[in-house]
Amino acid sequence: MAAEPLPLQGMSDVAAPEVCLWQHLESTARRVFSLYDLDEVRTPVLERLEVFQRALGEATDVVQKEMYAFEDRGGRRVALRPEGTAGVMRHLAGAGDRGADARLYYWGPMFRAERPQAGRRRQFHQVGVELLGPARPAADAECIALQVHLLREWGLDGFSVHVNTRGEPGDQLAVSRGLQSVLEARRGEAWCDDCRRRMDANPLRVLDCKQEACRALADQLPPVSSWMSAAAREYLDEVLRLLEGLGVRVAAAPRLIRGLDYYQHTIWEITHSALGAQDALSGGGRYGIQMGGRQLEGVGFAIGIERVVLALTGLGVQPESFRPPPTAWLVTAGRGLEADALALAQTLRSRGIACGANLSGRNIKAQMRAADRARAPWVVLLGETEKSRGVVVLKNMATGEQAEVAPDDLVVRLLASAPSA
Ligand code: HAM
Repeated sequence: MAAEPLPLQGMSDVAAPEVCLWQHLESTARRVFSLYDLDEVRTPVLERLEVFQRALGEATDVVQKEMYAFEDRGGRRVALRPEGTAGVMRHLAGAGDRGADARLYYWGPMFRAERPQAGRRRQFHQVGVELLGPARPAADAECIALQVHLLREWGLDGFSVHVNTRGEPGDQLAVSRGLQSVLEARRGEAWCDDCRRRMDANPLRVLDCKQEACRALADQLPPVSSWMSAAAREYLDEVLRLLEGLGVRVAAAPRLIRGLDYYQHTIWEITHSALGAQDALSGGGRYGIQMGGRQLEGVGFAIGIERVVLALTGLGVQPESFRPPPTAWLVTAGRGLEADALALAQTLRSRGIACGANLSGRNIKAQMRAADRARAPWVVLLGETEKSRGVVVLKNMATGEQAEVAPDDLVVRLLASAPSA
């Protein structure tokens, strides 16, 4: 049976013109990251399962329900990465002293076996940042400001930054107990079955439920910080003060909890109104992760690229506008000119002039249509007569003017008109 020409459900090809927008997002991100003294890290998409279990927490939905985990041919338990932080920590745990204050970014595919819908894919892409170092409000504020800077450089506005705290590691028990007691008193309300189970096993997760009804009920609970130490609340206040000083507008989100267990202190999520149900563009926070016998501390975030593309196209951005047209389009009139056309196209390209050409022997009309579609400002016409006289015809597609030019002049004229690369 012939294979279906489709990717697996929840996974997509990214092709032109959309891929042009992706390339723009990636190059802009690299430029912004260079302003913040970040290095790129590329970790494997496949890791030992325990890397994720240990870093994200065994009880999280991502680890329990969403991972592509399997045994490889050697009987090792491995998983496709559902996010980037765990692999980066695995890398840094083995990187000696460098690990303690690394400033890294990554870009790549992640995998979660979720029910696909708009903005929720099984293979999706994240760009992420991890700034290693001990807990300091200034580091958290820098990380949030960097992320907002990047979103603005991408041309996004209309997003909201929701900030909260997970408290100090020592606060976790008090929060869990406090939440459990208020939930116990409200057990009779319309919570989903999952939430009823979470009330006993992991009450914090009740705040993270995606069900509308549970969200509405959770909004009536006291802020989680009410069970935290004064130091944790002051830490958050200082982050908010620093952000205000930087002119970064954020909203306090007293019941935001985030779905991963490695967080402590500042956590945040960025939503966008153009996204509908899956409205989180990005999430991040400060974390402490035990890996390879080391305790790694840092702050970071990851942005979902598919969601950024959805938000930007929702705002009217045209992906094709990020594909620069070729400077010239070579049109060949007459048979037996392939070798000459190929040589001319190569000469132009080797001089840095982007040149499209259709060398498959189509008629002139079809070739002119192709030049038009490609939005090439110039057409270079090569026919028998021109060949015999050692010239080509150069046509300005905007004005319709055309003139005969010698090949050397052609390069000079096209270089003068080409937008600087
Ligand atoms: P996260 O909130 O799980 O955080 O994911 C970050 C972003 O990835 C989400 O806000 C969303 O835009 C995108 N995303 C997640 N799942 C999907 C999906 N199934 N389809 C499409 N997009 C998706 C993390 O992954 C943390 N590692 C962030 C972090 C880095 N925290 C500290 N450092």
